[in-house]
Amino acid sequence: MNYQFTDKNHLEVSSGSKRLHLVFLENASIHVYVNECPKDLIELNEVLETKVLRILPPSDGILKMSLSESVDLEIDEKLNLRFLHAGHEFFSPRLNNAKKTKRNDYAEIDFDISDDAKIYGLGDKMAPMNRRGYSYVNTNTDDSNHQDELFPSLYKSINYLLVRSFDRFFGLYFPSTYAYEYDLAKASLNEVKVGLRKDYLDFYLFYGDDPKQITSAYSLLVGHPYFIRMKMLGNQQSRWSYEDEKMVREVAKQYKKFDLPLDYIHLDIHHMDGYRDFTVDKIRFPDLAKLADDLKRQGIGLVTINDAGIKVDPDYEIYAKCVENGWEAKNPDGTSFIGRVWPGDSIFPAYSNKGCREFFFDKAKEFVTTYHVDGIWNDMNEPHSFTGPLPDEVTFEVDGKKREFAEYHNAFPEGMVRCFDEVYSEANRRPYVFTRACMATTAKYAFAWNGDNFSLWHHLGLSIPQILSMSLSNFMIDGVDIGGFGGDGNKELLIRWCEGNILMPFFRNHSSLHTKAQEPYAYDKETVDIYRKYLEFRYRMIPYLYTLAHRVSTLGEMMVRPLFYNYPEDKETYETNDEYMVGDALLLAPIVNQGQTVRAIYLPKGIWHDYFTGETYEGGRYIMMKLALDETAVFVKDGSILPEFDGLKYIDKKKIHRITYRVFGEKADGFLYEDDGDSLNYLKGKFNTYHIHYEGGKVGIQKDHRGYHSTFKEIVFAKGEKQISVPYQENVEEEL
Ligand code: GLC
Repeated sequence: MNYQFTDKNHLEVSSGSKRLHLVFLENASIHVYVNECPKDLIELNEVLETKVLRILPPSDGILKMSLSESVDLEIDEKLNLRFLHAGHEFFSPRLNNAKKTKRNDYAEIDFDISDDAKIYGLGDKMAPMNRRGYSYVNTNTDDSNHQDELFPSLYKSINYLLVRSFDRFFGLYFPSTYAYEYDLAKASLNEVKVGLRKDYLDFYLFYGDDPKQITSAYSLLVGHPYFIRMKMLGNQQSRWSYEDEKMVREVAKQYKKFDLPLDYIHLDIHHMDGYRDFTVDKIRFPDLAKLADDLKRQGIGLVTINDAGIKVDPDYEIYAKCVENGWEAKNPDGTSFIGRVWPGDSIFPAYSNKGCREFFFDKAKEFVTTYHVDGIWNDMNEPHSFTGPLPDEVTFEVDGKKREFAEYHNAFPEGMVRCFDEVYSEANRRPYVFTRACMATTAKYAFAWNGDNFSLWHHLGLSIPQILSMSLSNFMIDGVDIGGFGGDGNKELLIRWCEGNILMPFFRNHSSLHTKAQEPYAYDKETVDIYRKYLEFRYRMIPYLYTLAHRVSTLGEMMVRPLFYNYPEDKETYETNDEYMVGDALLLAPIVNQGQTVRAIYLPKGIWHDYFTGETYEGGRYIMMKLALDETAVFVKDGSILPEFDGLKYIDKKKIHRITYRVFGEKADGFLYEDDGDSLNYLKGKFNTYHIHYEGGKVGIQKDHRGYHSTFKEIVFAKGEKQISVPYQENVEEEL
């Protein structure tokens, strides 16, 4: 075995004809590769490199080195790797499987896991948090009938695993755009196999001490999720479709009539002229800009859908331009590849191509400025064709280089959303761009929703692990269609869905064509009253969610979290699928089964306060709770101070003059991030951060960062029944 540093942070180890490369990175990360692996369709962040702590010359055929004070790496003659923590092996990948099969190139990384191992991650898969025992193929797929965990591929292809094995958490990121095949200890109980349909081997290992450190390191590498507008945390209403102006105005009217908060209405494909992107059906929407303005006066923004496939129509400018420039996907004989989507025959542009991207950027900008549209919803961008998957040999030309679909497939949606992420920034606004398909790096440009679920109890249940797994996979803002997309729902399901997802980052009720109406007012007074009660609760939590959103975008932490993320030492949390945490302070345990009104709730160690009743519970155990149809369980960790808004019907930071700090416990801390909620001025330091502290009957606020002229005029402190109010000031100290 030979080894040499090709530069101070890059070690090359060779044995026979094999050559292994190790790049040591900050944040307890290491990049390992066997063959050169092209990465030009993926933009990873430059993570600082670091020196290996110690390296010993090979003895007994083993090269040993220390990556940190507690993590070591050993490499044997066959170039097998053994990662150890405090002398105990926890991850030993076998990399020697690069091979060519008849079908295609194939390389595989295998490793053994302990009997009690858990495997998390992989984004939107329809499965519980722990994906051990399942197999997947990560290649973007729209399978509209996916109803459970039997479907190996879904819309998103996010190649991140968080593993707990041999008493240690570690993270793995596989950065190729080619399809990965995962066998998560399905074929063999204690063996994980990750195969790539290509002939190179390459992975990042994150070996930090807990899920927080590991996931932050991964997020730093793939790029933190972009920082959202505060308004995006508000309630959103959608349907395929609000087909004309009258229907849209009716939604706003009903929301107002029933006194329900609303921030956005979404227009599905019927707003377009013949399903052509960036066009308007003038019969259905004679004056879309005026409609948008009228809604805006009521605090409601308008979001419009945009599909990946472009209608074949020589008279349609977008089609003509794509074909003229050769931006569309091509068959091997050089003709345009024609698929079928909503507009009928369609082409699929190579959106990542510079010229194509600039063209679509201009089109989108023209559209949103002409019609005063507030957000862009990107769909069918796996990309999907009703005629079946695009053949692997179809090519896309990206900046002078031809890419076969096999390589470009998983990069396609990111190329598409990148046309739009800067559309709003020219007007000094943060993007509102979301997508159905994506890969790990896409969160820099767009947030996500999880596509076409069904109005089924089972899908309500799965929404929790699905959104938490997206959160773990770097997608801070994600959500499912509240109430379910396909099929007809019912009153109880809608109510429980609202309660069950009430603090999930993206909260949008959406349903399919030909299904029963699913707006909260579609049922009865009781439904509306309960929906309103929880929407009001969500709006109270907006400053808490928004403060977290800022933290996530700057530190790569998570907004919504599985319990084990906050309590990694507590094994009881490892398989929890029906509870979730929001930041460190809130734990939610909804009912997700029909007819159920009593459930067991696991509370980790510590004291927990029922948010609604104030009752306290000792954690480290299960409690039983009765939850009638209008009740869901929300607990606050003792020692927390929640920042809250009150009375909002929509979010407009300029109009928010009161902030409430609600104290839980005798010694407590809270944080608030404040800015204008919409512009990019925060990048120039125009924001405030506050630290709120309560102890010995006194509450105090300290303003840590000053950069924004606050809109608050009044501060309320609340603790149990007690409440005091003071005029807004930067630093406060009061008895409470
Ligand atoms: C896709 C989307 C869905 C949308 C429909 C029509 O199925 O996932 O949300 O309503 O297309 O555009």
